[in-house]
Amino acid sequence: MKQVILAPLRGFTDAVFRNAFRRHFQGVDEAVAPFVTSIKGRRIKPSHLRDLAPADNRTMRVVPQILSNNPDEFLCLANTLFDLGYREINWNLGCPFPMVAKKIRGSGLLPHPDRIDRMLDKTLHGFSGTLSVKTRLGRLSSDEMDRLIPVFNRYPLARVIVHPRTGVQMYAGNVDLKAFEVCLTHISHPVVYNGDINTLSMFQLLESRFPAVSGWMLGRGLIGNPFLPEMIQSGTRCICNRNTRFEKFHDDLVSGYCRQFSGPGHVLDRMKGFWRYFAAAFPDGRRIVKRIRKTDSLDRYRQAVSAVFSGQDRWG
Ligand SMILES: Cc1cc2nc3c(=O)[nH]c(=O)nc-3n(C[C@H](O)[C@H](O)[C@H](O)COP(=O)(O)O)c2cc1C
Repeated sequence: MKQVILAPLRGFTDAVFRNAFRRHFQGVDEAVAPFVTSIKGRRIKPSHLRDLAPADNRTMRVVPQILSNNPDEFLCLANTLFDLGYREINWNLGCPFPMVAKKIRGSGLLPHPDRIDRMLDKTLHGFSGTLSVKTRLGRLSSDEMDRLIPVFNRYPLARVIVHPRTGVQMYAGNVDLKAFEVCLTHISHPVVYNGDINTLSMFQLLESRFPAVSGWMLGRGLIGNPFLPEMIQSGTRCICNRNTRFEKFHDDLVSGYCRQFSGPGHVLDRMKGFWRYFAAAFPDGRRIVKRIRKTDSLDRYRQAVSAVFSGQDRWG
């Protein structure tokens, strides 16, 4: 069986999405949740961990993720999450945004393997659960990996999730499969592949090239085509009733966000965000996104989406 993992996408793959996804689709084994930032002081307000409330995270295994460069803050947050019942915590070493990287967090830590070393040493001594990392190849260059791999190998990490781009690449440009191959060969922990798995054929290409991969993490490709994990698990593109199933999922998402957010404006913003990815399924996706972005109320949004659903062929 292939281990398929839902990627963390802040603003997208939160508990509402994860639960709705689980109700309508199959093929995903677990999710890494979007990052929570560590905070100064010992008191962590429940609102900071709202997305990780155990009651809202029962439908699939969820691994919380922490963005931090401070071992004490990291430990405080990790132990709070452990007390909530989470056993694996993922450390974010990939966030590419300059504001984050400048503060030597996320991918900003990658040029500093000594800091990563100290952080792992301290956190693993004070944490009873297991730790995994989600990393890029480096901040500026994939050569940074040469100094990172020995550090990762010194510690008992549950797994290393590799997104084979550098931080400065953000989310564009090609994934570097040669550099990923080096990671897969030299990292002594289970290695998960993440990046640009947008089609069944891309998955099959990667699977045949990298049979030693322990899991496959899907983000944007899964949001754009939520049937993709089922296609991967079954090895076929034939999935029945896609339009109806997608519409029910969409409506479930809207209801979930109506319950979660205090006003319709927030729901509207969130749903408009999703269409950036949903549009990939439509031959005239760009026009659809434009039309949906123009809506200024939830009612108008629903009308626009319903027109889109009634008149379109999707997913090729
Ligand atoms: C809008 C957005 C938000 C993201 N948020 C996170 C995050 O919270 N934590 C993280 O490790 N990666 C985050 N990522 C990166 C994704 O998890 C993933 O590594 C990246 O999108 C590449 O995988 P994909 O091509 O399957 O989407 C984010 C990416 C995007 C586009």
